[in-house]
Amino acid sequence: MSDVLTDAAFDAVRAGNPDQSPILAEMTEYGHDEHFPIVGPDAGRFLRLLARLADARRVFEFGSGFGYSAAWFADALPADGDLVLTDFDESNLDRATEFLDRAGYADRCTFEAGDAFESFESHDGPWDIVFIDCQKTRYADALDRAVPELRDGALVVADNVLDGPASPDELRQAFAGTAPSDAAAGIAEYVEKVRDAPFETAIVPLGEGLSVSRYSP
Ligand SMILES: C[S@@+](CC[C@H](N)C(=O)[O-])C[C@H]1O[C@@H](n2cnc3c(N)ncnc32)[C@H](O)[C@@H]1O
Repeated sequence: MSDVLTDAAFDAVRAGNPDQSPILAEMTEYGHDEHFPIVGPDAGRFLRLLARLADARRVFEFGSGFGYSAAWFADALPADGDLVLTDFDESNLDRATEFLDRAGYADRCTFEAGDAFESFESHDGPWDIVFIDCQKTRYADALDRAVPELRDGALVVADNVLDGPASPDELRQAFAGTAPSDAAAGIAEYVEKVRDAPFETAIVPLGEGLSVSRYSP
């Protein structure tokens, strides 16, 4: 079910999805069973497609949880690619390590426990994709830090721009200029920053809403 799409549109999206690989299906089920806020299979499949379209080799994630979104990205990266997963919670990354190892993607993954912002500073760009799924109040800061480290044509993707920690109603108010919560204010601040050049942005209503921005300085 989706709070973003009507039931009919949600069913149509699902009908257009092929079966997930066994490991991705297991991770989807794990996320649901644990009530873990993953992007879900529809948005995940789209992330993988974006990585392929961008010919991505290097992806940085602000907020990886147990590695679900990363597993979709990893599927599109070459074996010598570079995917950095970050999370405050070491046990999430232990689970991510186990899943991504079993999926055969350990070769291209680095797992970094702690603050994603500190991890980001410890790596050099250029990045092909930066994925932002951390605290909503820090989305704009993540973007500011990412920009100098992006290649021309890189993608910056942010989750939860239509639902999640901030409800659709809260986000609508925030986009209209009256944010009822810090999370909604953070998302609105972010969306405002990527609306115009040097970004070209589309909001994609899959999962809880992805903001997809192409950077060209
Ligand atoms: C929404 S979940 C990530 C889900 C993941 N991207 C997925 O779809 O599979 C957010 C995760 O980011 C972590 N997190 C939030 N802010 C963070 C930060 N500044 N540094 C590191 N981890 C962070 C949280 O611990 C949580 O596990």
